[in-house]
Amino acid sequence: MKPVIDLMNTESLFKHGNPWDQYEWLRANAPVYWQEEANGSGYWAITKYEDICAISRNPEVFRSVTGPFFDDRNPENFFGKDTMVFAMDGPQHARYRKLLKSGFTPENLTILRPRIREIAREILNTEMQKGSGDFVSEIALRLRAGVVAEMMGMPRQDLERLVNLGPGRTPIDDTASPEDLMAGVMEMLAYGQSITDIKQKSPGNDLATFWINNEVDGDRLTAEEFMWFFAFILMEEGPRNAIAPGLQLLFDHPDQRAKLMSNVDGHLATAIEEMLRFSSPVSHFKRTVMEDTTIRGQAIKAGERVVMFYGSANRDEDVFVNPNTFDITRDPNPHVAFGAGGPHLCLGMHVARVELAVMFKELLTRMPNVEANGDFARMHSSFIAGIHSMPVKY
Ligand code: HEM
Repeated sequence: MKPVIDLMNTESLFKHGNPWDQYEWLRANAPVYWQEEANGSGYWAITKYEDICAISRNPEVFRSVTGPFFDDRNPENFFGKDTMVFAMDGPQHARYRKLLKSGFTPENLTILRPRIREIAREILNTEMQKGSGDFVSEIALRLRAGVVAEMMGMPRQDLERLVNLGPGRTPIDDTASPEDLMAGVMEMLAYGQSITDIKQKSPGNDLATFWINNEVDGDRLTAEEFMWFFAFILMEEGPRNAIAPGLQLLFDHPDQRAKLMSNVDGHLATAIEEMLRFSSPVSHFKRTVMEDTTIRGQAIKAGERVVMFYGSANRDEDVFVNPNTFDITRDPNPHVAFGAGGPHLCLGMHVARVELAVMFKELLTRMPNVEANGDFARMHSSFIAGIHSMPVKY
């Protein structure tokens, strides 16, 4: 039966997470679907894995110039225009990305891993004494803030401030007004400025110092570019929105939870990938078409927008066997939760994977009986299919 297709109405679209029934129907019947918008315009909704890979890997035709959000009520002045890496193209993007990428090395990750473990342990130790709490604000959000603080070499006493600056202050949530979002970003930029000043005066052994000073081919980030990247990292919603839905999946699939518990070290790596595939926390990224083209025979005109629904690609029956089954041993698992290749592929995916693996290892070994303690609430967001609050007891 054809479900009501409405990839604009965020209330119904993400109220229950990704709209799996709509995606399934679209993949089978209209994989390149014209979604009308209230203002009379519209965009092409792309739901097949193969098409999403092809678009991501063809940045000449499919540009990021108008930003990643389909919900661009203000296309002339959307959030991140001219400043955020996700809205750049061509040489400007290649340059910025090269300067950022030099910080995301395997060596830095090796240094970060034991520190992330320490942070996770500290958080869980505090929580265990309480016996119950909100998993999102008390655990997932704090882990995120702790990891950012560690990466950037922030003073320990700033941790609480950090928790209240990023997604805790301004979640990428459609309930936040543009003014509120901007006020939150300004606070982050001001804090980024203070960190830049501190690191310029007294360099540390951290990534903030590295990014501020590092030269690649005689080029380096300007203080302003660093501050915007800093704000991006602070706002990055992916990890907390992969951890909470990941735990929810274990609650919903006791057989898979039991299997994971029977051999945490053996199954954890594939379980994390399956959590990412199954929950697809970042719902979509948009591209703008530079020249007339076709996708699956559908003509697309220059200037039109295509929106790639990663959750749909991650349930594509042409790629995944039994795509609607949550299987923690699935291997291979070529999901596109971090993007589908090409120049914009998530820069932080290895950090995110470590955050997830460390948190679940610590959680499942220290709190093996963690269980839901009431209903969870989803984020009201058209961009992140995430969880806003999730009462649990340990
Ligand atoms: C589970 C967690 C995460 C998910 C699901 C996720 C997902 C994504 C996706 C889908 C994209 C867009 C890819 C594209 O346009 O082709 C992206 C881009 C990006 N992500 Fe992540 N991400 C996560 C965590 C992180 C973290 C922790 C960081 C930083 C430490 C990060 C940094 C970035 C950056 C800088 C980009 C933009 C890259 C560019 O435009 O060149 N991400 N991410």
